[in-house]
Amino acid sequence: MSGTPPDPSRRRFFRQMAGELVSSAAHVVGVVAEVRDRTAAEAQSLLGVEAAEGAATGSAPGPGVALGAPSPTAAPTASPTAAPTAAPTAVPTGFRTPFRFETDDTLLVIDQRALPDALVELPVRTAYDAARLIREMAVRGAPAIGQVAAIGLALSGWLARNAIPRSRDQLVRTAAVHLAAARPTAVNLGWAVGRVREAYERASEAGVAGPEIAAAMRAEADRIVAEATDDHGRLAAFGLEALPDVGDRELRLLTHCNTGPLAGGQFGTALGIVQAAHFAERPVHVFVDETRPYLQGARLTAWELAQAGVPHTLIPDVAAGSLLAAGRVDAILVGADRVAANGDTANKVGTYPLAVLAARHGVPFFVCAPISSVDIGTADAAAIPIEERPAAEVTEIRGIRIAPPGTEVWNPAFDITPAELITGIVTDEGVLRAPFGASIVAAVASRAARRAGAVGD
Ligand code: MRU
Repeated sequence: MSGTPPDPSRRRFFRQMAGELVSSAAHVVGVVAEVRDRTAAEAQSLLGVEAAEGAATGSAPGPGVALGAPSPTAAPTASPTAAPTAAPTAVPTGFRTPFRFETDDTLLVIDQRALPDALVELPVRTAYDAARLIREMAVRGAPAIGQVAAIGLALSGWLARNAIPRSRDQLVRTAAVHLAAARPTAVNLGWAVGRVREAYERASEAGVAGPEIAAAMRAEADRIVAEATDDHGRLAAFGLEALPDVGDRELRLLTHCNTGPLAGGQFGTALGIVQAAHFAERPVHVFVDETRPYLQGARLTAWELAQAGVPHTLIPDVAAGSLLAAGRVDAILVGADRVAANGDTANKVGTYPLAVLAARHGVPFFVCAPISSVDIGTADAAAIPIEERPAAEVTEIRGIRIAPPGTEVWNPAFDITPAELITGIVTDEGVLRAPFGASIVAAVASRAARRAGAVGD
């Protein structure tokens, strides 16, 4: 197997981010600035001049400050609905979060459709911008879409700050409904939007001025981002402990879709564990499946692992069976868009076949998801809405038709892995094991207590 040798500076980067941050970010309220400053400082010291420029650019780098790539001096203005033709702002390089603030009223999100060929950032100034970019998959991954939606709603709240209360109510409430409907499966979208909307309603009821209401919305969005950073760091640390012990030899993992910083912000989930293992100096090799039809594995995961110096091999989705049959995988790590109360998990289509293969071959199958992706209000898989996407994603590859014109297509974006096929759910509250119903209830309560500050980290 070939792979890029680990880069010692990045090894230190992840050890620090996945370890130190976990232990220090006990109380989320007030941690946003700390996370932002530390992230920028780490990027500067570890990734060199480029990161320093990236971190310094923009009048108010937000919690999603860019890591390790030059910041554009001007955001591309090309329509995000078009194929990503906007001029790349830089050769893709370095660790990135999927978004950062250019100014207080403009969020820049990485156009994930353009990767790995180009690093293009698109501006989000309103909830409607955010909804469009989420719907069109410029921003994707359950935690990332929740965070960008929350910020988008807060930006619309800011734009409406001087409107009369009745118009402001209408604008914010309509925008919230629109955002929450952008993609149906990931639970993070709905609750993140709900939290910012509740912040709006609370501040409105308190009778404070429009700018203060907008500030309350923005503070809630910032909290959502900071909480995700904290949660994902904890998840990576727990996941590291759960990985099979294979002695001195290389640990061979298989992953699906993209669950790294692009999908989650800062660490990601399943890929956060992979990177934590790599930077803890555990020899690791990752099999990355392509993830047809949208190719998140080939385009995004392979790119992120290359940036991190993690050895990896890209495989066609259909090769997973042969790989497992040959005994070449020690564990499978996947993310989740929604985990139901009984542990049934919706994730990128193609996850379920991997779980079946894992059971067939006795390979541990871990769902890696923060408690924020658990939907305690959804009893089981039957109640999880599965998004269906356009036929062209299947009949074409990057604009080139591969199927006869008029071919009927079924293109579900997600599938359901039944709880009984899951070895463990790696969360920010530890690794949950069957029976999941009870362990999920306990973990949800424990996270709520942690967030409320009742339990110290
Ligand atoms: O359609 P996508 O690319 O948004 O699907 C993403 C996934 O299925 C991920 O596995 C999931 O959101 C977890 S990301 C940390």
